[in-house]
Amino acid sequence: NPLIGIGSLADHMGQARDLPDSLRRQVALIASEARRIDELLGSHLSQFRPRSFEFQPIALEELVRDTQSLLSEAFRKRKIHVTLTVEGEIPAVEGARGPLQQVFLNLAMNALDAMSEGGGTLAITLFRENRPEDEGVGVRLADTGPGIPEALLKRLNEPFFTHGKAKGVGLGLTICRDIVDRHRGTLSIESSEGGGVRATVWIPLRQEGA
Ligand SMILES: Nc1ncnc2c1ncn2[C@@H]1O[C@H](COP(=O)(O)OP(=O)(O)O)[C@@H](O)[C@H]1O
Ligand SMILES: [Mg+2]
Repeated sequence: NPLIGIGSLADHMGQARDLPDSLRRQVALIASEARRIDELLGSHLSQFRPRSFEFQPIALEELVRDTQSLLSEAFRKRKIHVTLTVEGEIPAVEGARGPLQQVFLNLAMNALDAMSEGGGTLAITLFRENRPEDEGVGVRLADTGPGIPEALLKRLNEPFFTHGKAKGVGLGLTICRDIVDRHRGTLSIESSEGGGVRATVWIPLRQEGA
């Protein structure tokens, strides 16, 4: 499919000798994004052939930083300030790279949409959180947008639930939840009207059989 072509062209460009480092990094992102779309198509659209995730050690900080770079231009344009706080040593988790990248992108894009008028701050925090049943890592994205009214909060789990956007599809959070569930993790969305949204992903360090 054409994504393979985009990916390998970008790989090829990345090998050019006189490329500045910043461009080399961007070209590498194009290549990895093309691969990610390809993976997404495989794992979400072909419901009849559900592909299982391939778990590998993942530094969540790296995925969060990639999310930041992918959206940096959009954040800048909308005057959204992004901060990243890493609390202590964060161990790698066993996870599926492309799908986890998608989770952070979807959550960050929701924050972006919510703050696209008047700007704001997206505060991302990585922290260690051990639960009685498992050790794990948490990633919290807290925005300063308008928040979600209580009456709508319980509808966030409904596929195709979208509210207040011209181009909302309403699958972003559904996909996030599916991916997090398949890691035996949790996703919580907390909000008070006027108080922004706190989206927290928790992923256990280890997957059974990984
Ligand atoms: N950070 C946020 N701030 C305000 N509202 C949000 C936020 N995240 C999600 N929402 C609300 O939840 C709805 C569903 O989100 P999502 O599943 O990503 O679908 P979509 O973004 O396509 O509408 C959004 O339409 C929006 O009303
Ligand atoms: Mg969304």
